[in-house]
Amino acid sequence: RRDFLRPPVLQPYEVVKDAQGRPVLERYSLTARQFEAGIVGGGLPTTMWGYNGMVPGPTISVHQNVRVEMRVRNDLPAVDTTFGQPSLTSTHLHGSASLPQFDGYASDVTQTGFYKTYEYPDFQGARTLWYHDHAVHHTAVNAYSGLAAQYHLHDDLEERMLPQGQFDVPLTISDAMFAADGSLAYDDKGVKSLWGDVILVNGVPWPVMKVKPRIYRFRILVASISRSYRLRLSTGHTMTVVATDGGMVPVPQPVTQFRASSGERYEVLVDFSKYPVGATVDLLNASNPNNVNYDHTNKVMRFQVVAPSSDDPPPYAIPADWRIEGEGKATMDLQRTGKERVTRLRLKHDDVTNVWSINGVTWDDVVASGYTKIAANPRIDEVQLWELENSSGGWFHPVHIHLVDFKIVGRNTNGGQPHPWERGPKDVVYLGEGETVRLLAKFHVSDDTTGGRYMIHCHNLVHEDHDMMTQFLVGDPDF
Ligand code: C2O
Ligand code: CU
Repeated sequence: RRDFLRPPVLQPYEVVKDAQGRPVLERYSLTARQFEAGIVGGGLPTTMWGYNGMVPGPTISVHQNVRVEMRVRNDLPAVDTTFGQPSLTSTHLHGSASLPQFDGYASDVTQTGFYKTYEYPDFQGARTLWYHDHAVHHTAVNAYSGLAAQYHLHDDLEERMLPQGQFDVPLTISDAMFAADGSLAYDDKGVKSLWGDVILVNGVPWPVMKVKPRIYRFRILVASISRSYRLRLSTGHTMTVVATDGGMVPVPQPVTQFRASSGERYEVLVDFSKYPVGATVDLLNASNPNNVNYDHTNKVMRFQVVAPSSDDPPPYAIPADWRIEGEGKATMDLQRTGKERVTRLRLKHDDVTNVWSINGVTWDDVVASGYTKIAANPRIDEVQLWELENSSGGWFHPVHIHLVDFKIVGRNTNGGQPHPWERGPKDVVYLGEGETVRLLAKFHVSDDTTGGRYMIHCHNLVHEDHDMMTQFLVGDPDF
């Protein structure tokens, strides 16, 4: 078993400050490139693609209202070996209300040898975001090859409410399959899904992390291409969900297990003070229907309790005055009025053509329309009720809506209620087999835009690429 690795935090190459000396803009530089990683045993190298030559890429950590310019250079080989096609990139900061031109629009691709500078407003409240590749028809292979990383947005309230620093730990979970020579195997089972037999946390198979006997905050991101997880502790003890995709939850939720699929983020507190020094606690995966499991996909990682150090900060406890503010609160305060406009989306697999679609539309249809085809047209700051229906049996779809945070207000399962772990602001919702889910969202954009087009897609990235993606238009800009 290998040691847990924490991805390094990327330093900006330039910080712009205001007259009071406070940072207002940070500039970062990233290069997507091919490199040899030591992931499998026996010293066999694996050719990966990573931001700055690492998998996952470096973590970006910024404070609310510090804008970011992120320059991403495509230094990948001109032609990829999986499909023999040009290596294209488009970077999406998932969880950010970015302007349309910086949102990683699938067709806004960068070729090898070029770069694009993305701008992120960071006006939203504290949350765990992630940046990953989104190039049209290449998202799955690009993300699978390693083009994914966390991005942490902090704010003053969150810094008071939740563990920070060494006790604030990113866990990016993915799965992969390796050929006998150590190379990454890509088998999408005929555009259906990609199932790995090795579970990786921050790029390391089944790592062991040393923890002190106190409360840790884990930022769990599922970066798998297709797999969904049902996570629990081997001791059966609770984890407390304190934040979801869009930030802190109104009421912390203790759970003994929770479900998480591609694109979802859950921040959980785990209390290791219950255990003696030397104890081990495993993070396990109990799986969900319609995942393909292998011998060891039921385990994720191990924690090993070690002695505290004399210079550790005082123990953390959930503040008695727990509350949320700002955008997260605005999202969770949304209530149905019965007067809001309703947008219905049906997600479907056509067994004859083997095409995945949303309301019968594929991304290729959107492209063929000259990008004019839209699934919804909310006005700026309009609140809409969205009803997502999974009408293909035998598949689950994690549905991601760009730009917005939403509140899950109903499921046709689970007694009509959202699950305990999803009672916070979300941007990906797990749409299980035969499920219909209702969401409320306010289509808020930053002040410096009149709106634009944003994508909606299945975050099973094989489904997304073939071609379960469509778009909506916010406002009525001239585009
Ligand atoms: Cu995480 Cu449109 O993606
Ligand atoms: Cu799907």
